[in-house]
Amino acid sequence: MFDHNAFRKPVALTLGVSLLFLAGCQSLAGSGGHLAADSAQNAEATRLPSNAEIRPYLQNVTTDGITILWRSARKAKGEVTITGPDGRSQTLSEPGSVQDHRVRFTGLEPGTTYRYAVTQDGKPVWTSEFITARPRGQNGFTFGVMGDMGKGTPAQFAIARQLAQFDPEFTLLTGDIVYFRGAEGDYLPKYFKPYQDLIDDQVFFPTLGNHDILTWLGKPYFRFFELPTGNIESASRYYQFSYGDVDFFGLDSNQAFTKILPQYRWVKSALEASTAKWKVVFFHHPPFSAGKHGDDNGVQKHLVPLFEKHGVDVVFAGHEHNYERIKPMRIYEQAGRPITYIVTGGGGTDLRPVGKNQNTAYSESIHHFMGVKVENDRISIQAIDQGGRVFDSTVVTK
Ligand SMILES: [Fe+2]
Repeated sequence: MFDHNAFRKPVALTLGVSLLFLAGCQSLAGSGGHLAADSAQNAEATRLPSNAEIRPYLQNVTTDGITILWRSARKAKGEVTITGPDGRSQTLSEPGSVQDHRVRFTGLEPGTTYRYAVTQDGKPVWTSEFITARPRGQNGFTFGVMGDMGKGTPAQFAIARQLAQFDPEFTLLTGDIVYFRGAEGDYLPKYFKPYQDLIDDQVFFPTLGNHDILTWLGKPYFRFFELPTGNIESASRYYQFSYGDVDFFGLDSNQAFTKILPQYRWVKSALEASTAKWKVVFFHHPPFSAGKHGDDNGVQKHLVPLFEKHGVDVVFAGHEHNYERIKPMRIYEQAGRPITYIVTGGGGTDLRPVGKNQNTAYSESIHHFMGVKVENDRISIQAIDQGGRVFDSTVVTK
């Protein structure tokens, strides 16, 4: 069902893959796969079915490279051809037959859209396009942010449709990507299926939530995501990438941030070394929150001083199943610009009530994602609900 049509996003293929996902879940549940107690949406497919297919998706985009990954039902020899705006093509072939396919192109032009075509054993299976990361000085791009998504709920699918409508160049994930335990088999119905029409033409940059590490300390996450500073299945839990005039820092807030630990030392030196005009940090546990969990004291005590000292502009976190925008603020060093903190944990899982405290500028218990636009002198941030309504917004200028 995967290889009969080379047209992008064909209806028949969508239906076919849907049925496969459904069949995969049912067979796992029926064969004794672990079932969580609280609801059908928490049913876990621990293992990936042996014939599971995953459509081509993009990872690890830079100004000159990108990785295309997919999984076929059976072993096959993959080949990918990309074509630039000048009409020139480049083809990469895998050396042998595999089920888990990975092809990385290098030497590409920055900020450039390429078409790509995937074949298996010579048969066309997919076509789509990607854009390489924009170089310094080239702004006027959009990105998305969302968190606490992967439960397979109608809200998750609705937010995915709105994100597709917004059509960002890439999306940041603030963690809790796959409930309840980040299980390998659950990535099919709760990640790849809801986002299949997005991740073939834009990169999702993930960070680890507390649920994502419950299966083998996040091994399935590292199986599926290729992060900027490591390869698949390496333990690259925090990383940096650049896009236009922004440096992005994705962190693992499941770990402590005490000063002797490697991640703290890395983020300190990476923020210090960054010469980007804008700095955006994203991770799971919010330093300021009027939601169920409240402020994360460790993040607040250890990371916020670094954010203030090194000129971070915007911080995105999740974990709370609601939306909250914090009043721009500094708490340790008064000199310098106030930092904008956003809690975005309404990507699809069940919502929780949220209140307000002295730090809250706006809060709402609502499914949503963030639509962000970066221009030369401003970052415009919108909170968008599952009907496409902008229900909150702010602008950071420089
Ligand atoms: Fe969480």
